[in-house]
Amino acid sequence: MKIIIAKDYEELSEKAFEIMRAVVKEKPDAVLGLATGGTPVGLYKKMVADYLAGGTSYRRVRTVNLDEYVGLTPDNDQSYRYFMRDNLLDHIDVDLANTHIENGVAPDLTAECARYNALLRELPRDIQLLGIGANGHIAFNEPGTPFNSETHVVDLTENTIAMNARFFADEKDVPRRALTMGPKNIMDAKKVLILACGANKAEAVFGLVNGAVTEQLPASILQKHADCVLIADREAAALIGG
Ligand code: GLP
Repeated sequence: MKIIIAKDYEELSEKAFEIMRAVVKEKPDAVLGLATGGTPVGLYKKMVADYLAGGTSYRRVRTVNLDEYVGLTPDNDQSYRYFMRDNLLDHIDVDLANTHIENGVAPDLTAECARYNALLRELPRDIQLLGIGANGHIAFNEPGTPFNSETHVVDLTENTIAMNARFFADEKDVPRRALTMGPKNIMDAKKVLILACGANKAEAVFGLVNGAVTEQLPASILQKHADCVLIADREAAALIGG
């Protein structure tokens, strides 16, 4: 794993942007695996600013997202579909028809997972962006998720519900279930870029880099990825020598 320690969030976002830009420059029809959460917002802002300034075009890019809440329609402002449009997709020249995310209101969630797995096979990702949960989760793969699992329905842990409650009016509004790519889907990406910011991620980052490869810390599987880059700010890197 390549490790980049950034002095602050601004530098983390800039370095992540440089990697993303390089992927699209080399392959204008690249497939980008995108992520939600607070951490990638700075990167998305830089992608938008660069596009508006006449930089990178995303006209031929395809995107696939990691996860979506069960029960939220795309126009619900807490859905991850909405988040992606609001933070990135509506502000660049990507064709929205080429942007994909699980359908959290599909009538048959098992069939929806199968559809998404088939889509991921059709669209091999050139890069997969990731954040990391304080408990080491990636996407919504909570501790204990089998490493060989693909897109599936998950019951969110109390920890994750509490962490994500900050985006909702009330903790009881946070959906209890989600659809998420599995660790296997994530490992299938050609390159993985994982971002970690803040002191509450330090233990998870330690496990990601130095811990045992264990399903109890889903991110630890990335130690086995051939091309994984971690960008952490100093707080998140505190236990790995940051
Ligand atoms: C959610 C998302 C994850 C994300 C995590 C951390 O649980 N499903 O993909 O990595 O939150 O979010 P943040 O970047 O806001 O700390």
